[in-house]
Amino acid sequence: MELEGKIAVVTGGASGIGQNLAERFHTEGAAHVVVVDRDEDGAKAVAGSVGGTGVGCDVTDEAAIADIVATTEKDIGPIGLFVSNAGYVTLGGLEAPVDDLNRMFEVHVLAHLYAARAVIPHMVDRGEGYLLNTASAAGLLSQFGSLHYTITKHAAVALAEWVAITHGHQGIKVSVLCPQAVHTNIGPNSPDADRMVGTGADVAGADGTLTPDAVSDTVIEALREERFHVLPHEDVAEYVKRKGADVDRWIGGMQRWQNSMFPPDQHPATWLTGA
Ligand SMILES: NC(=O)c1ccc[n+]([C@@H]2O[C@H](COP(=O)([O-])OP(=O)(O)OC[C@H]3O[C@@H](n4cnc5c(N)ncnc54)[C@H](O)[C@@H]3O)[C@@H](O)[C@H]2O)c1
Repeated sequence: MELEGKIAVVTGGASGIGQNLAERFHTEGAAHVVVVDRDEDGAKAVAGSVGGTGVGCDVTDEAAIADIVATTEKDIGPIGLFVSNAGYVTLGGLEAPVDDLNRMFEVHVLAHLYAARAVIPHMVDRGEGYLLNTASAAGLLSQFGSLHYTITKHAAVALAEWVAITHGHQGIKVSVLCPQAVHTNIGPNSPDADRMVGTGADVAGADGTLTPDAVSDTVIEALREERFHVLPHEDVAEYVKRKGADVDRWIGGMQRWQNSMFPPDQHPATWLTGA
């Protein structure tokens, strides 16, 4: 798929990866970019810089997402690409409140479902359309120090796979973006920002922390080639291969790596059981 002349919607577009994608889609010749974020001022500022439309919305509000899709289709034109990207990270293991997991599931998974079921019927009518869903390398592998992030990003990958399998014959293309660490505001925006600094959860940066520009480079290339996995960190493809080839060996390697990342008295296991 080429961005030239397309109308794109980007959630979580006020900051980080989403902001960069909105800007890149504009320079790639998109006809219009709708920037959605619960940070309404931020969404409007990014939209203003690309001649698009900024909308303040929490992506877990299904009616609001449906309204953005309907209004865009009616007033701006056919949505060629819907990017479900809004997200955040927390720290915690088995001890973390289930309410927190449910909230994150709404943002990382149900928001993707709400967008897909609002926009796909329009796309199917036209015989084409593209969904790009931001998950994480944690959705293919694991996230040390964050059980909730690991669960919800795996579910986001599963949802994207299911939609690709089920709606592909109707002309719906799906890609899932799975980066490791990227320089964005995800750390400072985290409800656990104070606890995260200097912990083993920084392991996401073990293969280097990319700029959002580099992530957008890979996204544009993957959209062009219509690849399902969008992996800005090339090593992730190899890790996925190793996990698939021998999952017991992979778990052993991850155990050793996690043990080396956290001092024994701060290991995520101790958050439940004590030191
Ligand atoms: N930065 C990384 O290292 C990294 C790595 C892998 C995956 N990701 C994923 O990339 C996506 C973008 O994150 P980022 O790194 O650019 O972080 P960021 O904090 O810079 O941007 C995330 C944006 O999403 C918005 N947002 C969060 N919850 C929302 C909600 N309920 N409704 C509407 N908007 C909401 C925030 O206001 C923010 O503008 C997330 O899904 C994140 O999990 C990030």
